[in-house]
Amino acid sequence: MGSVFNFSGKTAVVTGAGRGIGRAIALGFAEAGANVVLCSRTKAEIDAVADEVRKKGGKALPVVTDLTVHEQLENLVGAAVAEFGRIDILVNNAARSFLRGLLDLREDGWDKCFNTNVKAVWLLSRLVARKMIEQKSGRIINITTVGADKAEAGMAAYGCSKAALKHLTRCMAKEWAALGINVNAVAPGFTRTDFSKPIWSNPEVEAIICKVIPKGKIGEPEDVVGAVLFLASDAAAYITGDTIYVDGGTMTS
Ligand SMILES: NC(=O)c1ccc[n+]([C@@H]2O[C@H](COP(=O)([O-])OP(=O)(O)OC[C@H]3O[C@@H](n4cnc5c(N)ncnc54)[C@H](OP(=O)(O)O)[C@@H]3O)[C@@H](O)[C@H]2O)c1
Repeated sequence: MGSVFNFSGKTAVVTGAGRGIGRAIALGFAEAGANVVLCSRTKAEIDAVADEVRKKGGKALPVVTDLTVHEQLENLVGAAVAEFGRIDILVNNAARSFLRGLLDLREDGWDKCFNTNVKAVWLLSRLVARKMIEQKSGRIINITTVGADKAEAGMAAYGCSKAALKHLTRCMAKEWAALGINVNAVAPGFTRTDFSKPIWSNPEVEAIICKVIPKGKIGEPEDVVGAVLFLASDAAAYITGDTIYVDGGTMTS
């Protein structure tokens, strides 16, 4: 098992790689030897992550992409293949959310969640899967959330979209298993990023949240990396359609 987490010669595309969990995953793959393709809408952020990778001797390609625009998905896949010749791993990490109760949630808020968190994942995964089928191998890892299983007030659009993503993970796994592609999900619990900052930036609220997490603290972006690398590795060759929770025990209650 010595070299199972060595990704030298492999290419990983990570969406939402400019900050938070996506940034940590991209840096994790780069440290394990992979070439990384970084995408988000904010050029300065993915350029900065690419610089970090290159300073450590790795190869990185930042590609500014709005995942809700189909032509930009085609551009992302084309740029990755032009630079590195193949895509071995796709991490669908980018997402958006709205903190709004169902009575007040606007229709476009619902649509933005589903367009980014579900539809874009299907369309990008399909484009990448066509390359992976030619290669007869590939790994797709979708970042879901404990909120795909647990209802949280004010988080319905996000939670429903992530529940759909969890099911999409199983559908892709079933349809593509025989084609050499494994598809799994990693579901973080509460994690310290910009996404969740409105909650953890208030120490009193953070203390309340920590009380219901068995590990007694909220997660850090780096906590998510190991599960993603595992699912992308040869150690997970017979695992598909599954979800690993990285939640400090949140799903125990
Ligand atoms: N933080 C948590 O507590 C938590 C808990 C459970 C699950 N998660 C999941 O973990 C993943 C990462 O979350 P995070 O906390 O790291 O979020 P974050 O810090 O807000 O980062 C989200 C990333 O997604 C990108 N993104 C959003 N919309 C995009 C679009 N249309 N096209 C391209 N890129 C887009 C953002 O870049 P731009 O805005 O620059 O495009 C950013 O790089 C998400 O799937 C989230 O649901 C997070």
